[in-house]
Amino acid sequence: MKLSQIKRVAVIGAGIMGHGFAQIFAQKGYSVFLYDIDEKILKAALARIGANLDTFIEHGMIRAKEKKAALEKIAVTTHLEEAVSKADFVLEAVPEIMDLKKEIFVKLDRFAPPHAILASNTSGLSITQMGSVTQRPEKTIIVHGINPPTIIPVVEIVRGEKTSDETAELCYRLLLKLGKRPVRVLKEVPGFLFNRLQLALYREALYCLENGVATAEDIDNVVKTGYGFRLANLGPLETSDFGGLDTFYRLAQNLFPDLSAAQSAPPVLEKLVQAGKLGVKTGEGFYSYPPAVAKKKIKQRDQRLLQQLKLFMSLGKKG
Ligand SMILES: NC(=O)c1ccc[n+]([C@@H]2O[C@H](COP(=O)([O-])OP(=O)(O)OC[C@H]3O[C@@H](n4cnc5c(N)ncnc54)[C@H](O)[C@@H]3O)[C@@H](O)[C@H]2O)c1
Repeated sequence: MKLSQIKRVAVIGAGIMGHGFAQIFAQKGYSVFLYDIDEKILKAALARIGANLDTFIEHGMIRAKEKKAALEKIAVTTHLEEAVSKADFVLEAVPEIMDLKKEIFVKLDRFAPPHAILASNTSGLSITQMGSVTQRPEKTIIVHGINPPTIIPVVEIVRGEKTSDETAELCYRLLLKLGKRPVRVLKEVPGFLFNRLQLALYREALYCLENGVATAEDIDNVVKTGYGFRLANLGPLETSDFGGLDTFYRLAQNLFPDLSAAQSAPPVLEKLVQAGKLGVKTGEGFYSYPPAVAKKKIKQRDQRLLQQLKLFMSLGKKG
């Protein structure tokens, strides 16, 4: 299949990631069928897409007529066969449960045209296993976006054992066309790239908190105003090139033995989870979020991320 032949897309699951991807495709003019098990969920997903597009309008990133055009490209359904029977590209975004994903992949394989690519947005399950229940494992692949997928540029493309070069390349070019920044993960390793790197930093942050090295605020601040501030511009390997590899070699030799090598989530996290303090969604986590504060913080997060995205886009494709 050629890239230009991908015209119709089906997104399976209209939750946090599914509604976002439906929006991304619709904004680029693809006809999208959004599927979920319940009409109410689909209605809520359309409302969320409308609200996301309003925020884009507020930031001058799209015009009102583009919102209308995008919404007109999205149809919703609770019938899986209807959603995928004419699709050229299918993106699955149902909960992270292997048995459920396999069940869905069997049906996608049965109902979707033989040429269609079947992609999963899984955060860490094996696409080789999902592909094994289909007659087209060479057309199965992971397309892993980061929340909120409508804003965060990167999407990881992860191949399974049987994914063909053609499928991987087509997905790469499709994501570029969608305005995303795809990266190729060459091996199916747990956590892919994004979560391996994210969790390495998270493990160390938890270690520092647990051991009284600094307060939660200062741990977050040193990332936001220092390490993370630079990271959007220079990745960790580039950073070491700029800093001098001899220096980073010595840093690594001196510091690696002292860094956390924890093999499980530490008590500082476990205790919060056991107490039902799950962060913004329950009003308390490492910080406190009364309802009005939570709403304000979410809005502030999205506004700041959109400002960053605007700057990032203004730097051009090579960024
Ligand atoms: N939330 C994140 O930050 C994030 C980031 C990257 C990847 N992911 C991955 O994306 C996938 C979806 O995660 P999410 O956060 O969007 O979940 P979610 O719970 O927000 O949405 C899942 C949706 O799937 C629907 N669903 C449940 N059973 C279904 C079925 N049998 N058929 C069709 N739809 C069904 C649910 O009704 C729900 O609307 C998961 O694999 C997750 O690991 C999530």
